[in-house]
Amino acid sequence: MKVSASFLSSNDIPNTLKLLNETDVDYIHVDIMDGKFTENKTMPFSEMKNIYKYTDKRLDVHLMVNDPEKYIPLYASLNTEYITFHIETEKDIEKNIELIKSYSIKAGLAISPETDVKELVPYLPLLDYILVMSVEPGKGGQEFIRSTKEKVDEVRTLINEYSSKALISVDGGINSDTKDYCQNCDILVSGSFIVNNSNYQNQIDLLRK
Ligand code: DX5
Ligand code: ZN
Repeated sequence: MKVSASFLSSNDIPNTLKLLNETDVDYIHVDIMDGKFTENKTMPFSEMKNIYKYTDKRLDVHLMVNDPEKYIPLYASLNTEYITFHIETEKDIEKNIELIKSYSIKAGLAISPETDVKELVPYLPLLDYILVMSVEPGKGGQEFIRSTKEKVDEVRTLINEYSSKALISVDGGINSDTKDYCQNCDILVSGSFIVNNSNYQNQIDLLRK
């Protein structure tokens, strides 16, 4: 199981990134919020782009924004493996997937807890990544929604049915207990469980067990 670490809950981002860089974590999960798709807003790109100074890990960018097309070119200029935006943005989904791919970056769609997984079907042939949210998008440290297990199982069935190459990640409230509900995914995204502890590597090892 791969692990992608979110630093959203950190109150010292440079230090968190430096400590994560010393672990074997697979990706740094970069949560971007615009204050419209979500109530909260994260720092602007002019500040966020400085994360390259503190980490040489590949980035897993999660855009919780209404207008992904404005953010994709910016985050495509960093050391980025995946850019994911929400299916709930509804417009220009295919166009935005193609925009991500035009930078040779892997493209993902995220689904919020209330969204039916069947909405992914038209996009399955285009996707490299499906991010299943196990909390409402908007903030770190929320409680994992247990019914996510069935959702992940459904996404796995769709992937097999349509011979899709997409990887599945689960994001929100993941810790050493709730990870057991995500055995059918490929990547666990975890924030507060890792960064609110003094030994990051130990927390990452617990997620991989
Ligand atoms: C929620 C974010 C998640 C979150 C994960 O809106 O997309 O990535 O920060 O953090 P924890 O693990 O604290 O829920
Ligand atoms: Zn996220």
